[in-house]
Amino acid sequence: MALDLILRRGQLHERAAGAAASRDASGDASGERLHDQEAHWVDIGIDGNRIVAIAPHLDLTATHEIALQGRWVSPPLVESHIHLDSVLTAGEPRWNQSGTLFEGIEIWRERKQRLTQADVEARAIAALKLMAAQGVLFVRSHADVSEPSLTALKGLLAVREQVRDWLTLQVVAFPQDGVYGDAQTEAQMEEALRLGADVVGGIPHYELTREDGVRSLQRIFDLAQTYDRLIDIHCDEMDDEQSRFLEVVAALALRTGLGSRVTASHTTAFGSYNNAYALKLMGILPRANLNFIANPLINLTLQGRTDTYPKRRGLTRVKELWQHGLNVSLGHDCIQDPWYSLGTGNMLDVAQMAIHACQMTGLAEIEACYDMITVNGARTLHLGDTYGIAIGKPANLIVLDADSPYEALRRRATVTHVIAQGKLLVETHPPRSQWNPAMLPQPGNVCDT
Ligand code: FE2
Repeated sequence: MALDLILRRGQLHERAAGAAASRDASGDASGERLHDQEAHWVDIGIDGNRIVAIAPHLDLTATHEIALQGRWVSPPLVESHIHLDSVLTAGEPRWNQSGTLFEGIEIWRERKQRLTQADVEARAIAALKLMAAQGVLFVRSHADVSEPSLTALKGLLAVREQVRDWLTLQVVAFPQDGVYGDAQTEAQMEEALRLGADVVGGIPHYELTREDGVRSLQRIFDLAQTYDRLIDIHCDEMDDEQSRFLEVVAALALRTGLGSRVTASHTTAFGSYNNAYALKLMGILPRANLNFIANPLINLTLQGRTDTYPKRRGLTRVKELWQHGLNVSLGHDCIQDPWYSLGTGNMLDVAQMAIHACQMTGLAEIEACYDMITVNGARTLHLGDTYGIAIGKPANLIVLDADSPYEALRRRATVTHVIAQGKLLVETHPPRSQWNPAMLPQPGNVCDT
């Protein structure tokens, strides 16, 4: 019997099955080194939309075979935090001159007045194609539900169906202007959940008062329990060290038992908390078992805008959260929109920025940053057994022009093949430079200095 597809001689590590390797957070790899001799080359057999065989050599045939020559085979990349309703709108109607979160919200308030569902769908699909071509097959997107028409949400729910054969999209009902910023928003959030939003969102630090912020969180947890949905809060995305809604989220996660179903996104104020308070918080967070999402590309540029020098990085404590065993993943947050005019959809860019900005340059730390764009994101999205490379799992995987996560991140390697639900979705050839031989040094003419 011939299979549908065999990938020949790819390098696969057992962490690819879907769980992060056990690591000593001091920087020493306690598990296997991913790029040493223990990594091995295998053939991967796919039939229909499932992985049916993994072995050093499969004595089988297939309709389609791909020779990998030792390239790294990885579970797909996971984009755990993006706003697809606003992607690809940078400069519309004007550029964000101050570079702040709050000017971004003002510009978006203007832009969304002329939002249509077709507009949302076209830009979201363009962005998803950009990401999928670079290995992203699982995405969580926020959808602004602060407009009575719920145009953004309806557009993204439609996109979720349009792409479901090749990409899994989760949609968050996100009240961009606050749950209590407008009298209608609370009801609109509930309507968004009835329409099928996967996750309940929030933005407590943008509510009018601290009390409104706490009340909004209580309402979000109520909604999540009523509708059996996950929670993902934009939490303390500012430099104010008095912005302390993370402790409220943690307390609610503990008391409700929702724990790992709850995610705190951004938490940039955590980078500004004094160490005495941060120490207290770090004692609570593992018990609460929250997920964290950091967005290093954008928060490095949005935050610290009121600082002179020294200027804060405006990031949450990624390294310390990871050292405390908390699940941390990474996202773009934005691609070419009022908050962030750059972005390419390449998750390796995001992880590389985390390596630099969070000073995670040890080998185990670099590998942990790769986990943050793969298996950790999968945990945040609650993908369960559907994620990872193992016999019987859905055949979603990517191939990189590298032999390890370290090399993939160092070189921001090309994702050469994207396999989605058993089918080749995208193939990309790595760039190759061609030297003019007449310009190369001749033997004997090279001077060592
Ligand atoms: Fe966000």
